Parts: sequence; structure tokens; C-alpha cells
Amino acid sequence: MNKTHTPRIFSGIQPSGGLTLGNYLGALKRFAALQETGIETIYCVVDLHAITVWQQPEKLRQQTREAAAAFMAAGVDPARSVLFNQSQVSAHAEMAWLFNTVARVGWMYRMTQFKDKAGKNSENASLGLLAYPALMAADILTYHATAVPVGDDQKQHLELTRDVATKFNHDYGVEFFPITEPLIEGAATRVMSLRDGSKKMSKSDPSDASRINLTDDADAIAQKIRKARTDADPLPGSMDGLKDRPEARNLVNIYAALSDETPDQVLARFEGQGFGAFKPALADVAVEVMAPIAKRMTEYMADPAEIDRILGNGADRADAIATPILNRTKDIIGLIRSRG
Ligand code: AMP
Ligand code: TRP
Repeated sequence: MNKTHTPRIFSGIQPSGGLTLGNYLGALKRFAALQETGIETIYCVVDLHAITVWQQPEKLRQQTREAAAAFMAAGVDPARSVLFNQSQVSAHAEMAWLFNTVARVGWMYRMTQFKDKAGKNSENASLGLLAYPALMAADILTYHATAVPVGDDQKQHLELTRDVATKFNHDYGVEFFPITEPLIEGAATRVMSLRDGSKKMSKSDPSDASRINLTDDADAIAQKIRKARTDADPLPGSMDGLKDRPEARNLVNIYAALSDETPDQVLARFEGQGFGAFKPALADVAVEVMAPIAKRMTEYMADPAEIDRILGNGADRADAIATPILNRTKDIIGLIRSRG
């Protein structure tokens, strides 16, 4: 279906708080790996998405730099990928408006992320929170991105992005926007809370013990894993045996994703053992992978001016791709462009 479109990868992360192990395994780690494929990679700190719920301005600036530092600490190279913050490229907001006229209100009300974030008092949610998926479609389609690496929780938003592209192409009788493929891969596409195996690990969870932050030091990581909720049974020899044990399944998936193994390979080694043996081994792997990332993040954060320079440079490169696509979209719609 995307025969006419050059492969291009786009993804984004919100600067709405410190990033977690879930962001790393579900997204950042994949972002760095995809640089090696030879396909153009564009990565964005989506600050316009973050402000759909109130953000304290100085904190937003700090968290935007921290997210950029996390991308780089996880291996995203700003020379090989385009790395920038969304609000510096005005095409995102403009395209989002055009897509607000394509997407239907009913599509928006169906989004589980909207329902979760708006909560009971959804009439009082910002209009931006409801329209959020149209902005996300704009992020992706303004670059004619053909593939988007994300965690499992973003699947529904990517389906909506495909719906926007399909409807636009149909309404205007063109084959202009690609039908983007989601890339939801690996053993940890949905990392769960360390306190509750039915809840996603999230930077917005009130309990810090529920997550591993990218900035946690070795002691904090080991302690959180030691205290993670589990059960008293020994580990089985394969994942089939963990169907009704969400907390155990989560820890095995995390181990597998960190050590680049399959969950069954991990279980083959730990079969018959309890969490008294498994947790210290998991803590070792987690510290080995995460501690160097935390260290690199601290190094990047020591020079905020340099981060801002990198983001500005990335925004210039992003703008050069986005603006011509936005202009062609306006032409298709019938909007006059006659400025010199
Ligand atoms: P967000 O922090 O909501 O902006 O998410 C940024 C990226 O991280 C998206 O691709 C998410 O799907 C991914 N992500 C967030 N939380 C998790 C999690 N607990 N497990 C796996 N991926 C996640
Ligand atoms: N909605 C995504 C999240 O909450 C963040 C995001 C915004 C995104 N725009 C995107 C992800 C474009 C991938 C592509 O995690």
C-alpha cells in the first residue's frame, strides 16, 4: 500500500515527567536500534501533547531537555536521526488543525487514553486532550512516515492515524498520505507497574515504587525490584505457565527485554526457582543496562544550552521535510498560498 512512499520512521515521547523503564523498553531502545536499519529516523519530544494537561512552565522546559537527554543516553544520535521538540516546527500544529476537519468527534471519544486521562469529569478535560490523536496523526503524516515504533498502549492512536490518512485520501481523491505501519515489537511492549501487574508502568503513577525511572541509581533499581509484588510459586519452564500470574510474567518479560532473550529462554534457566533467586538476577541485569544510561543522562543534563542547540538544529532539519508536505496538503484542500 505504501509503494510510492520512501520508508521513514517517526516516533515521539511526551515530556510530561521523568521517563521510565517502560519508555526505554517499549520505545527508546527500539528507536536506537532502528537507526541501524538505514531507514531515515525522526524522533520528537512532543511538548504540544504534554500541555493537553497542565504543566508548570519551568518544569516543562526541564522535562523537555530531560527527555532529549534520555533519547541520546539510550543511543539516539542527533547526527544520524532528526531529534527535536515538536513546538519548534509549526507544521505540526497547522497539520493538526487540518486533521481536526478530517477526523470525526466519535473517533476521539472512543480513545481509551482519553477516557483514562479525562477520568470521570470528562466535560472538564481540555479540548486539546480530546483532539490529541489528530495532533499525533499530524506528527506522523507531516513527515509521510511509513512506520512508527511505539509501545502497545499507542496501538489505538495509530489505527486512528491510518483512518485519518485513508479518509483524507478518499475525500480529496488522492493517494497522498501513507497508511502507516505500527512497529510494536519485543518482549516488553507493555511493561507493567511493579506494584500492580494489571496497571501499565507509568511516569504519572503516584507511587514511585511502581516504576524504575531512567534516572534511578543502582541502589534504587535493586530496591524497587526486591520490593516488586510477586507470588510465592516457583517459576515454570515456559511462559504458558504464567498465564494467571501477571506480576511474575511482567518481571520475566522485563528480564528478557533487558538481556535480549526470549521470555522462554529466561525461564529455561530459572525453572523451578523462586523469586528469592530471580529478583537479584533481574536486579543485576537491570543495573547493568540502566546505570550507564542514567550516567549519560546526567552528563547531557549538565549542559542544557547544548541540548537546546541540538533540538534547534533538529527542528531546522525537521522543518525542511515537514513544510513542503504541509504546503502540498494545503494545495490539495484548496487553501491559497500566495505569499512571496
Ligand atoms: P509516553 O510516555 O506516554 O509519551 O510514551 C512514550 C512511548 O513509550 C510510547 O511509545 C509508549 O507506547 C511507550 N511506553 C510508555 N509506557 C510504556 C510501558 N509501560 N511499556 C511499554 N511501552 C511504554
Ligand atoms: N501519544 C504518544 C504517547 O502518549 C506520544 C506521541 C505523540 C507519539 N505523537 C506521536 C508517538 C507520534 C508516536 C508517533 O506515548
